Amino acid sequence: MAGFLKDKTSLVTGAGSGIGRACAVTMAREGAAVVVSDLDADKAEETLRVIQTRGGRGMVVPADVTCSDDVAALVEKTVAIYGRLDCACNNAGIGRIRAERVHEYPEDDWDRTIAVNARGVWLCLRYEISQMLRQGGGAIVNMASAAGLIAAPHASAYVTSKHAVIGLTTTAAQEYSGDGIRINAVCPGLIDTAGLTGQLGWLPESVARFLCRRLASKRIPIGRLGTPEEVAESVAWLCSDAASLVTGEAIAADGGFTAQ
Ligand code: NAI
Repeated sequence: MAGFLKDKTSLVTGAGSGIGRACAVTMAREGAAVVVSDLDADKAEETLRVIQTRGGRGMVVPADVTCSDDVAALVEKTVAIYGRLDCACNNAGIGRIRAERVHEYPEDDWDRTIAVNARGVWLCLRYEISQMLRQGGGAIVNMASAAGLIAAPHASAYVTSKHAVIGLTTTAAQEYSGDGIRINAVCPGLIDTAGLTGQLGWLPESVARFLCRRLASKRIPIGRLGTPEEVAESVAWLCSDAASLVTGEAIAADGGFTAQ
């Protein structure tokens, strides 16, 4: 398949749904062999079916990004099958809007959110960078959020985790820029996924989606929710050689939300 990721091997975590699925499909469209990874193997298989139906190639490797052994095995299997790891999108993430403010926030939710969103990205970077150092370069995109750039009341764990992703991205970018490894973050705004409506998990899905659409029409300058595919285009570009001068950036893909 021709495209700007032709002959590259790519890996996407949380690729069984939403933005991660769109990233995997878009990278495959651009010619990469894509390792589709998710906690949920069935959802990952569904993403691979979409890729294959459109003429792309890849494989599924289930992994929990909070588990060091899983992430090590994910990179090992990628290299065993494809020989190298050119690009990675560390996308897996969770989040919830809660009634509780900072002083009331439940410890178990706090710990799980930080474990998946911040520690999970760090674990992925550890093993991906080790492989990229061995092979002499690569490109990594971490999925942050507009909530990594600004405050979001009633989501303190999520906001903290996404600010951490940006700090980790800029620091890692500086540490490895001399090794041919570029590391950037993408910061989506309100994107139409199950993950977004799940943040309002106490409401029926249709009500949550209606409220998200109404919020977007009032608060997002472009007047609508973004699509997972729109975010994926930024990710695929950052992974490509066309972005060879770009590293250590946190690029908003949010319809102008954080520019207001
Ligand atoms: P989603 O919930 O639709 O998809 C997330 C995927 O991650 C799911 O397939 C889930 O099984 C997987 N996952 C969850 N925990 C995991 C773990 N421990 N290990 C491996 N996989 C795991 O979510 P969505 O909306 O597509 O979000 C993807 C990323 O984009 C997340 O990091 C999220 O924080 C970020 N984001 C999403 C926004 C939105 O409006 N949808 C806005 C800003 C950022």
